[in-house]
Amino acid sequence: WANVSTEKEKTLAMIKPDGVAGNYSDVIKTAIFYSGFSITQEMLLELNEETVRSFYAEHATKSFFPSLVQYMSSGPVLIMVLEKVNAISDWRNLIGPTDANKAKVTHPNSIRAMCGLDLQRNCVHGSDSPQSAYREITFFFNKSSSGQTFIST
Ligand code: TYD
Ligand code: MG
Repeated sequence: WANVSTEKEKTLAMIKPDGVAGNYSDVIKTAIFYSGFSITQEMLLELNEETVRSFYAEHATKSFFPSLVQYMSSGPVLIMVLEKVNAISDWRNLIGPTDANKAKVTHPNSIRAMCGLDLQRNCVHGSDSPQSAYREITFFFNKSSSGQTFIST
């Protein structure tokens, strides 16, 4: 039993602009509940460019960054905190690989395969580690870190 964690864990999930615009929010939330997650917090909002730059700061030097910032601020996103045992890696497994086009081939049942459009417009976000989960949850829900005010629905 020593290596079996029964601690509940939280992760940050986001339905990106293409997912909200494509009306995938309900089907994704159904997949979330079927997979045993609870949604403990949730808000629908439009990110401004400054917020996206700060949220994705680890990618600031990448060539795709300006395009990513523009895309992520192009329409409403649905931000959720998901909770269950092993939430972080289970949510990453459920969403599938970053490139939705590759996901359609290698992970056809993943959310990105079913709802994503391409490498950039891949429908959903998931924290990639306990450190990022903590950072990303507090980024949106415990403070206003970028000047943008977040109002929970
Ligand atoms: P990354 O953190 O590498 O992927 P993930 O979302 O799977 O953790 O990249 C963040 C987002 O940046 C990714 O979801 C989509 C976008 N992106 C691009 O537009 N082009 C790229 O080449 C990469 C790697 C990511
Ligand atoms: Mg990432």
